[in-house]
Amino acid sequence: MQQIKFYSGENLPLELHKVRIVQKLHLVPIERRLEALYEGGFNTFRLSTKDVFLDMLTDSGTNAMSDNQLAAMMQADDAYAGSQSYYRLEKAVQDVLGKKYLLPVHQGRAAENIIALAYVRKGSLVPMNYHFTTAMAHITDKGGQIVELLYDEAYVINSSHPFKGNMNIEKLEEAIQNHGAKNIPFIRMEASTNLIGGQPFSVQNMRDVRALADKYDIRLVLDASLLGENAYLVLQREEEFKNADMKTVIHAFTSMADLCYFSARKISSSRGGGMCTDRPEIIKELEALVPLYEGFTTYGGISIREIEAMAVGLYETLDETMISQSPAFIKYLVDSLSEKGVPMIRPAGVLGAHVDAMQVCAHIPQTEYPAGALAAALFLISGIRGMERGSISNQRDEYGNETYADMELLRLAVPRRVFTLSQIKYVEDRLHWLYDNRTLIGGLKFVYEPPVLRFFMGGLEPTTDWPQKLMAKFKEDFGESL
Ligand code: F0G
Repeated sequence: MQQIKFYSGENLPLELHKVRIVQKLHLVPIERRLEALYEGGFNTFRLSTKDVFLDMLTDSGTNAMSDNQLAAMMQADDAYAGSQSYYRLEKAVQDVLGKKYLLPVHQGRAAENIIALAYVRKGSLVPMNYHFTTAMAHITDKGGQIVELLYDEAYVINSSHPFKGNMNIEKLEEAIQNHGAKNIPFIRMEASTNLIGGQPFSVQNMRDVRALADKYDIRLVLDASLLGENAYLVLQREEEFKNADMKTVIHAFTSMADLCYFSARKISSSRGGGMCTDRPEIIKELEALVPLYEGFTTYGGISIREIEAMAVGLYETLDETMISQSPAFIKYLVDSLSEKGVPMIRPAGVLGAHVDAMQVCAHIPQTEYPAGALAAALFLISGIRGMERGSISNQRDEYGNETYADMELLRLAVPRRVFTLSQIKYVEDRLHWLYDNRTLIGGLKFVYEPPVLRFFMGGLEPTTDWPQKLMAKFKEDFGESL
């Protein structure tokens, strides 16, 4: 573990990279931000970046690329089939993820579609530590169901548990026995469990899952999109690995999975995605579907340039100075906001800092989407765009009934090496103010609800004139300040 101490005793994350290309940002006045919210249906996905100051919507496709990644893009070997760029990526997957066979796909959810098409049938059950929106949508789309099997600790907001993403082993065995192993096409483990606050699972936990997969002869699928960050937290938190390196931990995880898939938009700070395995029969089962849905098997719907960036980005995932920057900034933000009383998911996870909207907006019922309201309110008073990860992001059940999320979170993504510390301090400052003025935030209601993945394009409106009142208070306190 690298450590850099300050003489002052301050606990600050230090950037171990320098900025060489910059993009100008715009902090537009609050009146324009209010208009933008109405134009975008109070849904941060529907904002235009010309109105956004700090884009903390996601780390997907927004991590900063390295000089070496950009350089590699220039030497892409454009070919429909058998491109040398593909072979370089295949080698990177073998070296970094330790898997022999690779099928590129255009992004993570494309892998989820293909895996579900290959293995999920009506009546199938897919146990997982926790769902991700697109993984669940593809499984239910094929007639299957999912079951989430975390330990109770995972739902404790202010916790010190190092591995809240651990699969509940007792419940997994119970689910297998109740549902029958033959109806379980695979068990899915999601690295750095996204929707509960970017929380990791341990290598030991995956060993226990593997033992059950062997006992009942069920495939084990690893969603490796956030595997780099999960491995980084293992180095910090799992005693057995405290002197290990990134590659050892990553291999410990991937060697236990029959099949790994990933969003390259996350793991390799590029675009694209992939599926990899050591098992020839699995590759045969998936291979046939790739040309139908994605593209030929040596490009999988990704531009060849991105394939080059993916290969270099995968190797960079092994570099602790690269992988640590985002978790260190997140920890800084979580710790400083917690000190000010703002309820945050703890311990700090990866991908982003997560605010507990259920507590911040305790006065807003779940039927009026507290996390969506908090996301809109924060954008209004700061130009910071976060993402709702609560009931709006949930899907209705098979009878069309609303299902309420276990947690109502506002996620503030910290993409790798994008923001400076003063920008993070701005987030801290505005969220602190919003917390002190939280009773001014009101609820939202849907005015347009798409049938699938409604959170992306759905339209909402405030239940009262609370945005105008919040804006008035902002102007009272900040005067002419943007
Ligand atoms: N799995 C995980 C754990 C993810 O976080 C994502 C995407 C996917 C799969 C799907 O990959 O976007 O390349 O199709 N997460 C993004 C996010 C969208 O904002 O958290 P994709």
